Parts: sequence; structure tokens; C-alpha cells
Amino acid sequence: MRAHVITFGCQMNEYDTLTIQSELVAGGHELVDAPQDANLILLNTCAVRGKPIEKVVSLLGDLRKERRAGRDVSVALMGCLAQLDEGKAIAEKFEVDALVGPGAITDVLEAIEAIEEARFAGERAAFESLRFREDLVDHHTPPHEGALTGFLTIMRGCDHHCTYCIVPTTRGPEVSRPLEAIVREAEAMARAGVQEVYLLGQNVNSYGLGDASLPSFAELLRTVARVGIPRVKFTTSHPMNFTSDVIDAIAEEEAVCNYIHLPVQSGSDRVLRRMAREYGRERYLDIVREIRAKVPDVVLSTDIIVGFPGETEEDFSETLSLFDEVAFEHAYTFIYSARPGTPSHRHFDDMPKRIKTDRLARLIELQKAHSLRANGALVGRELRVLVKEAARDGDFVMGHSDQQHTVLVPKDQVRRLGLHSVRVDQATPHTLYGSVVGADVGAVPLRLAS
Ligand code: SAH
Ligand code: SF4
Ligand code: F3S
Repeated sequence: MRAHVITFGCQMNEYDTLTIQSELVAGGHELVDAPQDANLILLNTCAVRGKPIEKVVSLLGDLRKERRAGRDVSVALMGCLAQLDEGKAIAEKFEVDALVGPGAITDVLEAIEAIEEARFAGERAAFESLRFREDLVDHHTPPHEGALTGFLTIMRGCDHHCTYCIVPTTRGPEVSRPLEAIVREAEAMARAGVQEVYLLGQNVNSYGLGDASLPSFAELLRTVARVGIPRVKFTTSHPMNFTSDVIDAIAEEEAVCNYIHLPVQSGSDRVLRRMAREYGRERYLDIVREIRAKVPDVVLSTDIIVGFPGETEEDFSETLSLFDEVAFEHAYTFIYSARPGTPSHRHFDDMPKRIKTDRLARLIELQKAHSLRANGALVGRELRVLVKEAARDGDFVMGHSDQQHTVLVPKDQVRRLGLHSVRVDQATPHTLYGSVVGADVGAVPLRLAS
């Protein structure tokens, strides 16, 4: 079939999309770039908040309309939403042909077979696979042709039970991938000229926990740091098991970037307890102090939920004061979204929307000031930037620094994509503007920009 995959959600879903695409190609199907050229659309969905679900529903609505108007296209609902009752109901409503959960993505060829058979018979397939396949930890996902950045999932699932979160339901229990599978994949990326790898998992720090045959996350980091990819980044870290040996590996291994995404979710102990986050404010601050002491040029980012059921103004002010204490360089801020089936869904989410949006706006304002201060301090300094693609403003190209700053440089200064040394000329809260002072600082040959 002529297939097109649309991806929602986190980087783990992006990685899964690469796996789905390589399965499709192995099965003799064609990947098409434009959705209108496809006769099979696969939606790799996210269910973490209401918004990504709304996006999928709206797309499914459009597809149903087109199909009723005579377009010959089959639809597979894959990823986290597919795993939930909510997803099943949506699939029914929009006459989806196949439902494949995130633990069963390699069943995609079976789904297509069922779709093809049903098409032949002039029926709808209604294929379903929602199992958590054990062999999903030992597959091989080749890097995208010509990619500068590679994603590498090191573990699947989540054993935490944060009361607001649907992910443990959608992705099942934690399973770490074998070390050899990870190293093989990292080495293939190094050979393919990938300049930056992201090690992915819902809590990368619990890699190998409870399995004596696997190394710790810190040891894994050190191993991957030595395969020849110039930059190693990882996400997401859970503060609960963010141990000193991980901080030491970041400080000591040159390839491991000094950038840490460490979601805190709230600054209030009372809210953290009700979220079942398994750490308190002081423990979080202790980790931050240790990180800043051992890795002086570190950049820290976080995730925050505002408007958790029962969050008082006092609780929220503790989140603001935590932001002042830590001075995160960057933060991803979310309004609490009640997910059916999660423990906190039982709490009455009765906070007026106006209060939630007001808190969000105040937090964003505060974060902006912190980001601007941190970025402003970089003016005049040189950063190593992986120049990746044309920026939205056509006069610039966009890249990321070792510490994950978004950096724009004038297009006429860059002849090739890849690693460049860039002097920062100007700073805004979310973007640095710079000039190239040297190219090709990467360890591997760079490709020509198109
Ligand atoms: N495993 C990661 C995060 C996974 S989800 C961790 O534990 O940090 C990414 C982010 O989405 C979370 O950090 C949280 O801030 C946010 N999130 C998850 N569920 C949410 C919900 N129900 N409402 C709002 N934000 C949510
Ligand atoms: Fe969700 Fe918590 Fe697991 Fe992260 S650690 S995926 S927030 S349950
Ligand atoms: Fe979304 Fe699933 Fe990732 S719910 S955030 S795609 S793990």
C-alpha cells in the first residue's frame, strides 16, 4: 500500500514511527510524503492530555468526510490513544480499520494484511492488537537516511503511578532493552553520521533496575558516550532515581551533553504528595544543587502542571518560589487535564478555568524572565551548535546547542548542515541569534545542505 504516518506526542512516539516505517518498508509497502497520495494513513497518537486527542479526532473527522466523498483510503489508529477505551470508542465512531497499541507496533504488517483482505471483500477490517509484545525490546530501528539527530528508546513503559498520568496505562510496565540492542543501534547511528543521539524512556534513570544482567543508567550513558556520536542527550529523567553516578557521568563524559530535563511538576510538597511523585521539594532542590555544583554550565529544564485538583494559591506560590530558587533555563508548562481512568480523575476538577489560565500565564511570565537572564548571559560566548534545518524565517537556519538552546544563524553564513562553532550576538527568552565562527567541528563528515 502507499502509506503515510502522522505522529503526535513525545519523542518516543517519533522513534516508534521510525520503527513502524521500517516495518512498512520491509513488508514491501511504499512510504509517501504527502498524505493525499496515500491509500493508508497511520496515526501514531498521544493521549497524555486532552489537546493531542482533540487533534486526532479532528483529523479522523476530516478523513471520514473524505472517505464518504469517495476517497479510497484506509486508516489505522496506533499509539497511546489506541490502547485506551476512549481510543476504541473514537475508532468505532470514525470507522477506523485497525487499532494497534504502542506495545504492538510491529504488528502493523498483520494489520495491513487484514486491511487488504477486507478491502478485497469490500468490508471494513476492524483489526485490533493491544498486546505488549515482549520482542519489542530487541528490534532494530535504522536511523533516518541523512539524519543528524537520532532517537534511541532504551526502555519502554512506566512503573510509576503519578496520579494524573495515563502513560502507565497506555505503555504498560517498564521493560529495559538489552544493552547489546542499544549499543548496536548507537553504533549504526555513528556509522551513518548521526551527530546527536537522544536516549529515550519515560524514566531513563530506572534503566536496568532490578535486572542484574543489565548495567545501570549511568553505566549505559558512559558506554553510549564512547561509540563515536559527538553528542549524547537523554530524556526523561525522574527525580526519584536521579542518582549521583548519573551526575558524575554527565560531568565526566565529554560526549554526554550538559543538559538535563528534570520534570518537577509542582513546587508544593502537598501537591507532590497528592500527585504521588515519590519525592518532595527539598529532595528535588538537593539534586539540583548537586547538579549545578558538579556541572557548572548545565542547562536545566522541567515540566510543570498547574491547576492540579485542589491546588491552592499557596501551593502555586510554592511553584513560583521553586522557579526562583532553581532558575530553570527552560520550562514546559501544562494546565492539568483530567484523564479518565487515572487516580486523580476521581478528584473533582472544579477549579475555574480562569484561575488555571491565570496561574499558567504568571508562571510563563516568570519563566520568561529567567530564560532571558540565562540567555542574556551567553551573549559574546561561543557555543557548539548542530545546525539542522531552515528556520521559519527564511533568512536563518536553526540549530541546537550542546545544552539544547535554540540558535538561529544567518543562512548565508552556513554552507553545510552539522556542527558549527557559533558566537552568540543576541538573546531572547527562547532563541539565541549568533554568527558562525567555525564550521565542521564535528567528528564525522558533514553533508551538504539542500
Ligand atoms: N515520564 C515523564 C513525563 C511523561 S508525560 C516524567 O515522569 O517526567 C510529559 C509531561 O506531561 C509530564 O511531565 C507532565 O508534566 C505532563 N502531563 C502528564 N499528564 C498530564 C495531565 N493529565 N495533565 C497535564 N499535564 C500532564
Ligand atoms: Fe507519567 Fe509519572 Fe510515569 Fe512520568 S513517571 S510517565 S508522569 S506516571
Ligand atoms: Fe503521549 Fe504516549 Fe508519549 S501518551 S507523551 S505519546 S508516551
